[in-house]
Amino acid sequence: MLSQISLRITVLCALVVAFSFLGCSKTADPVSNATNTRAADPKPASTAKDEVAEARDLYTVNCMTCHRDSGKGGKVTVDGRALDPDDLTTEKMKAKTDEKLLAYVADGVPDEGMPAFKDKLTADQMTLVVKHVRTLQGK
Ligand code: HEC
Repeated sequence: MLSQISLRITVLCALVVAFSFLGCSKTADPVSNATNTRAADPKPASTAKDEVAEARDLYTVNCMTCHRDSGKGGKVTVDGRALDPDDLTTEKMKAKTDEKLLAYVADGVPDEGMPAFKDKLTADQMTLVVKHVRTLQGK
């Protein structure tokens, strides 16, 4: 009789422990969620980083074949056409305004083999490409 009671108490205790454990893990969830939101908070910094990476990627995909990784350009043959893409890092290029560079990118210089990008890139993408050109210029 006495051992039966103590067995019941033991089972009860085990249940209490089990439930309080469940209760604990349940209340732990919102805490981990809160941690997740906090981890995602410093967005502005990561967006700025993404922008730099995106600008570089856009340049790599659209400009590098002709103006090279460095932006220094030089003679190159693209699709069987001999071209002489400008060095984008000269003082002359540095002195051009963003608007001027954007206009070159948008309209190109078709006769000389510099393609127009206005139908290929969005205005935002062209702005980013020019940003990367500024980076290559050391600005
Ligand atoms: C197919 C080759 C090619 C690609 C791709 C290309 N360019 Fe050019 N780019 C040229 C050539 C060739 C010139 C020289 C045009 C000239 O002689 O007037 C030039 C000239 C320029 C100029 C100077 C224009 C001037 O007359 O002063 C800028 C700025 C420029 N490119 C930027 C870019 C950017 C930014 C990209 C990528 C979005 C790009 N180019 C992609 C070939 C290319």
